Amino acid sequence: MSNCWRYSPELPEDIEYGIIINMAKICLCLTGSTLQRDIEVLEKYRKFVDIVELRADYLTPDERLLVRRFPEMAGIPCILTVRREIDGGLFHGGEWSRIKLISMGLAFAEADRRRNFAYVDLENDLSVPGIEEAARTFGTRIIRSYHNMNGTDDGITEILRKSKRIGDEIVKVAVAPRSLDDVVKIFRSARETEDLEKIIIGIGEFGLCTRVLADRLGSQITYTSVKGESNMPMAALGQLDPKELSEFYRFKSINEGTTIFGIAGFPLKVTLSPSFFNATFGTESINAIYLPFPVVSIGAFMRLADEIGLKGASITVPYKEAVVSYLAQKSDHVRLTGACNTIVREEDGWHGYNTDAMGFSNSLLNFLGTKDLKGKRITIVGAGGVAHAVAEEVHRFRGKALILNRTPIRARELAETFDFKWAALDTVGFARMEKYNDIIIQTTSVGMDSQIDSDPIEMYKFSGKETVMDVIYYPQQTKCLKRAAAAGCRVIGGYDMFIRQAQEQFRFFTKQELSTQAAPNRTP
Ligand code: ATR
Repeated sequence: MSNCWRYSPELPEDIEYGIIINMAKICLCLTGSTLQRDIEVLEKYRKFVDIVELRADYLTPDERLLVRRFPEMAGIPCILTVRREIDGGLFHGGEWSRIKLISMGLAFAEADRRRNFAYVDLENDLSVPGIEEAARTFGTRIIRSYHNMNGTDDGITEILRKSKRIGDEIVKVAVAPRSLDDVVKIFRSARETEDLEKIIIGIGEFGLCTRVLADRLGSQITYTSVKGESNMPMAALGQLDPKELSEFYRFKSINEGTTIFGIAGFPLKVTLSPSFFNATFGTESINAIYLPFPVVSIGAFMRLADEIGLKGASITVPYKEAVVSYLAQKSDHVRLTGACNTIVREEDGWHGYNTDAMGFSNSLLNFLGTKDLKGKRITIVGAGGVAHAVAEEVHRFRGKALILNRTPIRARELAETFDFKWAALDTVGFARMEKYNDIIIQTTSVGMDSQIDSDPIEMYKFSGKETVMDVIYYPQQTKCLKRAAAAGCRVIGGYDMFIRQAQEQFRFFTKQELSTQAAPNRTP
């Protein structure tokens, strides 16, 4: 095993006041209405953060008069920011009163730099020589910022270069990616400006990877916030909680040798994969990180994967079929079913596998306590990617199956591959189930998330003799499974299958065996 796989628990030296060290710092944005409230929040998260940003635009008018006291109260390097509405802030007053507030924060600076703001954030279209002069005189570094809350500019590199005015200013660009192609632009611009001291951020759900991979971007700071602590939904900006960034993503351990993995899908609201992999990489001492990538275009995801050197990914709904055209090598299963849920970068390109199949059959056979499905008559509900994997395994383990699907043509296509029966999800289909009901396997997305109150086979009456499996793992018992359990059926949810298929993905990703059994919380 090469060294780059080892996880280094070393943490950076204590941060010196106002001095940039060569590692992205975690900044906590404080958006309380009083300084005292901001300090209370800081105390709860102090051990996870290197620096705080006082968002003075969130303070009440009375409290704004006291901003000068804040650095001493906080005892940690502070950024002073008074953000205008157009840049996503809450400062409604005129530009002159905003400048006055910034001046108050910097005024009467002391010889002891710990009592001054370490940084002041000034927009790149603001030019107030008096403030800039005061900041420089008292050792407060200027962060020269540009915001685009509505999209991602093409010329981020030029914006960063043009924003810089005087030698020691740090330039900052915060833009709102609308797709992963916009995130590619951010990473490219970061590469083109390696010589600049900068902060670079992608706002919103697509930008999450820019916050976790701040060090890769050469960004001096990554911003975090505490959910529920502000009257603005900071989470909507894609900011992570500092504890989540530090513990879940092990931010301080991310370095040049860290291997990046992730999951591509949409909407990715209900996934346990980041919990499983990040916890497992930690317990296995592997220097790797696993990120969620909300994907609206699989092509954009593959371009980002190249840009950031992604080593492998889990592929989920709705891209398991679309990703196949990007593969240089396909496993037999992927070739047969056309569905791929695991990609791994190798020298000749992407290799594609499907771990749903093995996860499913191991889970079901273990539950039944049998070696095969010989003599079992089985209904498979659904004809999508997961149903393909399930059908293949049922066939391999010598079961006989009926495939029911909302769109009958898909049921037919899948059934014909394995010489199974097929029907639509209607009264005829439910009547046919009576002859294929030793085991019922539910593979559709009905029962999760927005369809949590639905049951795709609600017209079917369980006798109580069936074994019923639902591949959905959240909720732990779908409506369909609850109904089956109430009728006396043996039921199994999708959590065990999820863990088994994720462990197989781990083997493909790392080419090593698991030495421990990490089991994430069952709630995404
Ligand atoms: P996966 O890879 O998770 O299987 P998929 O390939 O998109 O995802 O397949 C989703 C399956 O859920 C399909 O069988 C789909 O039925 P259609 O082929 O008719 O689209 C099924 N499905 C999704 N929503 C459904 C609903 N509301 N009622 C019944 N079946 C549904």
